[in-house]
Amino acid sequence: MTSENARTELGRLAALLNKANTAYYVSDAPEIPDAEYDALRRRNAEIEARFPELKRKDSPSEQIGARVGDGFAKVEHRVRMLSLGNAFDRDDVAAFDTSIRKYLGLSDEAPLAYTAEPKIDGLSLSLRYENGALVEAATRGDGTVGENVTANARTIDDVPETIRGAPDILEVRGEVYMSHPDFAALNERQEQSGGKRFANPRNAAAGSLRQLDATITKTRPLRFFAYSWGDLSEPLGETQMDALARLSDMGFSTNPLTRLCAGPDEMIAHYAVIEEQRATLGYDIDGVVYKVNDLALQARLGFRSTTPRWAIAHKFPAELAWTRLEAIDIQVGRTGALSPVARLTPVTVGGVVVSNATLHNEDYIAGRDARGQQIRGGKDIRVGDWVQVYRAGDVIPKVADVDLGKRPHDSQPYTFPTLCPECHSDAIREEGDAVRRCSGGMICPAQAVERMKHFVSRAAFDIEGLGAKQVEQFYRDGWIKEPADIFMLRERYGSGMQQLRNREGWGEKSATNLFAAIDDKRNIPLGRLIFALGLRHVGEAASNLLATHYGTWEAFETAITGAADRQGPDWDDLLSIDGVGEVMATSLVTAFAQESERESIDRLVAHLSVGAATRPDTADSPVAGKTVVFTGTLEKMTRAEAKARAEALGAKVSGSVSARTDLLVAGPGAGSKARKAAELGIETLDEDGWLALIGAA
Ligand code: IVH
Repeated sequence: MTSENARTELGRLAALLNKANTAYYVSDAPEIPDAEYDALRRRNAEIEARFPELKRKDSPSEQIGARVGDGFAKVEHRVRMLSLGNAFDRDDVAAFDTSIRKYLGLSDEAPLAYTAEPKIDGLSLSLRYENGALVEAATRGDGTVGENVTANARTIDDVPETIRGAPDILEVRGEVYMSHPDFAALNERQEQSGGKRFANPRNAAAGSLRQLDATITKTRPLRFFAYSWGDLSEPLGETQMDALARLSDMGFSTNPLTRLCAGPDEMIAHYAVIEEQRATLGYDIDGVVYKVNDLALQARLGFRSTTPRWAIAHKFPAELAWTRLEAIDIQVGRTGALSPVARLTPVTVGGVVVSNATLHNEDYIAGRDARGQQIRGGKDIRVGDWVQVYRAGDVIPKVADVDLGKRPHDSQPYTFPTLCPECHSDAIREEGDAVRRCSGGMICPAQAVERMKHFVSRAAFDIEGLGAKQVEQFYRDGWIKEPADIFMLRERYGSGMQQLRNREGWGEKSATNLFAAIDDKRNIPLGRLIFALGLRHVGEAASNLLATHYGTWEAFETAITGAADRQGPDWDDLLSIDGVGEVMATSLVTAFAQESERESIDRLVAHLSVGAATRPDTADSPVAGKTVVFTGTLEKMTRAEAKARAEALGAKVSGSVSARTDLLVAGPGAGSKARKAAELGIETLDEDGWLALIGAA
C-alpha cells in the first residue's frame, strides 16, 4: 500500500466509522453488523500502525462511544425472554408441524391446532403486574437481563396502570411499536427541530422507549400489542386463544388478525391474508407467528436454548436491490476461516442501508456449490460487477446474483487468496471443506483477536467492561495475546493503575471496575469455560452437554486427553454422549493433543476455579447426575421428549450401555442393550417405572 492509498483509505474508513457510530450510539439505528464494524476499526488501526504520520485528527480509533443503555438499571427476567425460530416457506411450516408431532408422538391424523398472528416489527417489552398494579417494565436485553424502562412504559396509552381480574402476579409480554402516521409525523417534527430522522418505525420505537428522560418518551406516540406472558401466579387459560381473550378483557390490545388454524394448510392461508393486508395495516409487520394453541402441549414441548419448540415465525420474503460491487475483502475468523465480504456502493434494501454483504466462500464467488455443481447458472462474481443484494430479516445480507450485461469489459475473475491476508501463513483448504483456513493459529493476529473476543462474549466469560473493542485495543498494544493474559492484567499493568488510567478512555473508576469484573469471573461454570475455548464444532449447547457429562474440569480434561488416540474407553464414553458425534469429538481431542493449544489452555485454567456443572431443577431430582439410557419403544412419550425431560432433571442421557450407565429404561422390543445391562447388573425400569421414578406417572 502506498502512502497516498493509505491516506485515501483512512479518509474512507473515518467517514464510514463516523457514520456507523452515529447510527449506533445516537440514532439507535445500527446500519452495519457488529462484526463489520469491528473489521473496519481493525483495518483502520492497522493502517494507522503502518503509517503513524497519516493518522487523522478525527481518527476513529480515538473515539469510544457509550451505549445509551448504560444509563438504565438492569432487570433480571424471572422467565427468560426468548426469540423465535424462522420459517421461510410452506415446506418449513410443514416441517415445523411434523417435528412437533414427532416430539409429542402424535400421528399425522391427530388434531393439532395453532394460532396464527402478525409478527409485529417493534421491540418486545415485559410488564409486571402485582395485585393488578403495574410495578415494573423491562426490555428484552439479552433475554436474561433487560433494561428497566418502567417510567417510560407508563407513558404508553396501551399499557394499563391497573388491571382487573388478573392473577396476583402477571407478566404480560408484547411488542412496542409505532404506527406509520405517527412515525411520519415524528420525523417531520424531528426535522423541524433539527433532530435526527429515524430510518424506520422500529428504530423510532426503540429510540423513543429507551430514553433516559421519560418526558421525552411521553411525547412519542408508542403503542403496545400483548401476545404472550412470563411469570404467572396461576395459568391464564387452557389455550393460547383463551389466554389472549383474558388479556384483552383485562384491557390489553391484542392483535385483531389472530386466528385459530387447524393445521399447516389453514396457517398458510391465513399467512396469505395477513400478507395481503400488510401494506394497509398502518404499522410494520415482518411475518406471521404460529403457536401451538394448547398450553399443556406448549409446556410439554418446552424450549431449545434460545427458542420455544412450540412457536415459529414465518417471515415475509426477503427484499432485493441492485448495486455495484466495489471490492472483495477477506476477513479471518476465530477458527481461521477466510470469509469473503462484498464492499458495495451503499443501497437501501427494505428500509436499511446496506454497504456490506457476505459472499460465503470461494466456490460461491466462482459460481459453484460445495459439490462442484453450478449455481447462478455458473456465473462468477467479479469486482466491478452489478450485483443483486438480498436481505431477509436480521440475517446478514448476501450477494445473490450478477447482471452479466453490465459487467465491465476489462473485469477479471476473482482469485481467492491462498495466503492469510492477516499473517501471511498458508491458507489451506482441506478435502471436503468449503472453507479455506489460515494455518497460523494463535500467531495470526486476526485469529487471536477473534478467539479472545469469543472468549469474553456473552455466552462465554462475559466480562463486563471487556468487550470486542477493548480486546482489540489491548491486543494491539501487546497487553493480551491469549485468554490467560486477561487474568494477569492487574498484576502486569495495574500497578497504581497508572498505566491503564493513562490510556485513552480509561479512568480510575473504569479501571477498578474492569479488574473487579475480571476477578468476578475467576470462578466460572464448566460449560462456559468449555464454550469459551472456542473450539471448532463445539457450540454452547454441546459445551453444556460435555459439562453435564463430565461434571468437573479435571474429569473432562483427563477424559479428553485419554481419548487422544481416538479409541479406548474414554473415546467411547465421549461418543456415547447424545449430541456428540465424531466430528466434534475429533475436534476436541485434536485441540487438546496439540501442544501449544494445550499449554495455552493450561495457562488459562491456572487462574480459574472451575465450578462443577450446574444441573437445572435437580435439588430433589431422583436422577440428578445419573447416566440413563433409553431403549425399545416408548409409548407415553417420544424418545426426544424423554431425553429432554431426563436432562431437565439433571440426568445424562447416553446412547449406549456401558459400565458407567446407572439406569436403563427399556420399552417393548428392547434387545441387545437390555441384555448388556442385565449382564452388567444395571438397574432396568420399564416406561411406567421411569415415569413413577421422576414423579410424572
Ligand atoms: S411470541 C417465546 N408473538 O419477535 C416466544 N413474538 O423474533 C415469544 N414478536 O422476541 C414471542 N410479534 O419481540 C411473539 N405475535 C408475536 C410477535 C413476536 C413480534 C417479536 C418478539 C420476539 C421476536 C422473535
